[in-house]
Amino acid sequence: MCGIMGYIGYRQAQPILINGLKKLEYRGYDSAGIAICDGESIAVRKAKGRIDALVQKTEQSGLSGSIGIGHTRWATHGRPSDENSHPHLDATNKFSIVHNGIIENYLEIKQELIEQGVAFRSETDTEVIAHLLAREYAGDLVAAVRAVAGKIRGAFALGVMSEYEPDKLVAVRVASPLIIGVGENENFIGSDIPAILEHTRDVYVLEDGDLAVLTSDSVRVMSLLTDDPVKRELVRIDWDKEQAEKDGYAHYMEKEIHEQPRALRNTMTGRIDETGQKVIFPNLQLSSRSVKQIEKIYIVACGTAYHAGLIGKHVIESLAQIPVEVDVASEFRYRRPLFAKNTLTIAVSQSGETADTLAAMREAKRNGSAVLAITNVVGSSIAREADDVITTNAGPEIAVASTKAYTSQLIAFYLWGMYLAQQKATMAPQEIAALLGKLKELPEQVAEILTHAKQLRHFAESIKDERQLFFIGRGIDFAVSMEGSLKLKEISYIHSEAYAAGELKHGTLALIEEGTRVIALSTQDALHEKMISNITEVKARGANVLGITHEDHLDLHRTVDDVCLIPKTDALLSPVLSVIPLQLIAYYTSVVLGNDVDRPRNLAKSVTVE
Ligand code: F6R
Repeated sequence: MCGIMGYIGYRQAQPILINGLKKLEYRGYDSAGIAICDGESIAVRKAKGRIDALVQKTEQSGLSGSIGIGHTRWATHGRPSDENSHPHLDATNKFSIVHNGIIENYLEIKQELIEQGVAFRSETDTEVIAHLLAREYAGDLVAAVRAVAGKIRGAFALGVMSEYEPDKLVAVRVASPLIIGVGENENFIGSDIPAILEHTRDVYVLEDGDLAVLTSDSVRVMSLLTDDPVKRELVRIDWDKEQAEKDGYAHYMEKEIHEQPRALRNTMTGRIDETGQKVIFPNLQLSSRSVKQIEKIYIVACGTAYHAGLIGKHVIESLAQIPVEVDVASEFRYRRPLFAKNTLTIAVSQSGETADTLAAMREAKRNGSAVLAITNVVGSSIAREADDVITTNAGPEIAVASTKAYTSQLIAFYLWGMYLAQQKATMAPQEIAALLGKLKELPEQVAEILTHAKQLRHFAESIKDERQLFFIGRGIDFAVSMEGSLKLKEISYIHSEAYAAGELKHGTLALIEEGTRVIALSTQDALHEKMISNITEVKARGANVLGITHEDHLDLHRTVDDVCLIPKTDALLSPVLSVIPLQLIAYYTSVVLGNDVDRPRNLAKSVTVE
C-alpha cells in the first residue's frame, strides 16, 4: 500500500519522482522520500507527512542527478517518522531501496545483521534489504538483488539503485504490484499507472517473480531466479491524462462521483448484444455448460466492494435463483467455508490488489472453486489469478473513498445476474430485455440526480456537528445504507451505523432520542409500508429523519422531516440511484468540516497487507 516511483534517463530525476509520488499519494501518505544518484554518490531527502513536506525539504536543498527512486509510505512496521521513511540506505550509503509490502522474516534477519555489527537507523522491516544488499554485493547488482530476494519472505515490490552501478535501476515484483513505463531514452518504475502517465503510455505490468533491469534506453524483464528473459506484453494505456487528474473539481471524490454516468456506460459497453435483448460476455473462459451447473456462489470482498457484493447477492438470488453467501474477505478463509462441487467464487475489488481479497480467492481456488473477478484494474493480481474477469472499466479511482467503482461493480453484478439467468433459463427473454432497458436508463438517471447535487450541501451543513447518525432501510435498501454509513464515517469521522429498519426495536432504538439524525431509505414498493412504520417508531422517539425515496412514494413527506427524491427504476436496480445522495452527503459533510476529503486519516486506497 505504499507507492514506488523510479526514474532513469536524461532529465533531472527530482521533479519527475516528486510528481509521480503525488499521483501515488493515495496509496499512503504517512511520509515520502526520494534518493537520487548524481553518478558518484547517492543523496536522500525524506520527510514525515504529506509529499508537500518533502517538497519543502527539496526546495531548501534539492538533489541533482538523472537516476533516482521515490516512495510514499503507509506505515506498517515503525511509526510515521523521517527515519522510517523510504528510501533506505545501507550503512555505507552505496545501496538505496524503496519497498512496498511486508518482509515477514525481517526480525530474524535483523538480529543476524545486528550480530554481524550492522547498526540500524529505522524501525522498518525494509531496512534489512539495504543491509543485505551491501553484504551480498560482489560486483553485480542484479546477482545481489537475487541473493537478497532468496533470503526474504513476504510481499515485496522493490526499486533498487546502487552507487556502484549508476547506470541502472533494478525492480522486483513479488506479491505487490509494480509496472515499468517505457519512454524514449528514459524509463520509469511505478506502483500504478497514473504515476507515469504524463511521460509515457507504454507499460509492462510485471508479474510475480519478475525482475527488471532498467537503463535509460533499455528494459530487460527476467525471472527473479535466473537470467532467462521473460516475455511481457507492452500494454498501451489509453486513459486520457485528465481522467487521472482532477479535471476542475475540488476533489477527486467529487470528480469521481460526477463521472458515474460515464463509468456505468463503460461497464455496460460490449456486454449487451446489438439487439439490446441479451447479455454477452465475449471472452468468458467458463463454458456455458459449467455456468449452467453452478450450484452455489461465494462473494468475497472488503469494504465498499463487500457492500457491492451484498447487492450482488440480492441480484443473483432473485434473477438466477442460485444461493449466494457474501463474506468479508479477511474472515473467509479462517471460517472454513464449505465448497459444494459446482461452486463459483466472485472476488470483487476495485484495485485488484487487496491482499485480503486475494487470499480469500486463493483459498477458494485451493478448494476447487472457479473464480470470477470483478475489478477495475486490468492486469492487477486479482485479475490475473482469476479464471475469468469482468473489468468494470470505470477509469482510475484516486479518492480513497470509493464511489464510481461501487456503482460500476453493481452494474457488473446486474449483467452477471442476467447472464446466469439466461443460461439457467430462470428468466424469460422478455423479462431480461425489459430489465436491460431499465439498466440502460441508469446513467441518465444518475446524471439527473447529480444536477441537484449542491442541494445536499445544506443537509451536510445541518449534520456536521452531530456525534452520531443512523442509516436505516430494509432489504436491498439496508445493503445500500451500509455503504452510505461507511462513506460518511470514513471521510467525515462522524460515527454512524446502518441498521435493518425492522431490527431497531430489538435494541438500537434505545439510542434514539430527541434530535437524533436518521437517514431512511425506502425505494422498494413491497416494503414501503413497513418502512413507514419503522420510521414512525424513530420519529416517536424524537428523531429527525431524512427520507430517500422515488416519486411514487411522495406520502413519505407526511412521516419524515425532509425528503430527497430519486428517479424510479426497477427495485433491484435502485441501489445505483439511492447511493448517489449518500455519497454526496458524505462528500459535502467532509468538505464543510474542512477534512482532507481524498485522503482520510489512517486509510489508504490500496490495502496490500492482510
Ligand atoms: C471505502 C473503500 C474501501 C475499499 C476496500 C476494498 O470507500 O474504498 O472500503 O472498498 O478497501 O478495496 P478494493 O475494492 O480495491 O479491493
